[in-house]
Amino acid sequence: KKILILNGPNLNLLGTREPAQYGYTTLADVEAFCKAHGQTIGYEVECFQSNWEGALIDRIHEAGRQYKAGELLGVVINPGALTHTSIALHDAIKGVEPLPVIECHISNVHAREAFRHHSWVSPAAAGIVVGFGVDGYLIAMDGLVRKFVNSAA
Ligand code: DQA
Repeated sequence: KKILILNGPNLNLLGTREPAQYGYTTLADVEAFCKAHGQTIGYEVECFQSNWEGALIDRIHEAGRQYKAGELLGVVINPGALTHTSIALHDAIKGVEPLPVIECHISNVHAREAFRHHSWVSPAAAGIVVGFGVDGYLIAMDGLVRKFVNSAA
């Protein structure tokens, strides 16, 4: 089975974008260590980044089909700023229930500007990882496995 790592707008700039906030690790590095971690825990990792809301929504619909076909365990998504704006992303995740989606933010959004405190994605998420830097992606992957595989054992 696979785990899908989705990244939204501006996360292609990781490593050079506001490093005080997001660190110096690039998206390519993040995707590489997610894939390596996947090997360790026994899951193939697929990665997709887009700056376009619709492309992310299309990918979530596709993930819903992969989940139904038994090919996908779940999704880790960092929706970037769409977190705070996108009811369409919320609806896309609700629309492919019960596909498990873990929301992940590199920074602690609750310690930042008030406009980052609300998430449209959170009510549709199976879990949320916030403020662990880029390690959050790995924590979210482990959380997905612990909640949806190990808990059933
Ligand atoms: C982010 C937090 C968002 O508020 C911001 O718009 C991002 C990145 C994070 O990973 O901390 O693009 O999702």
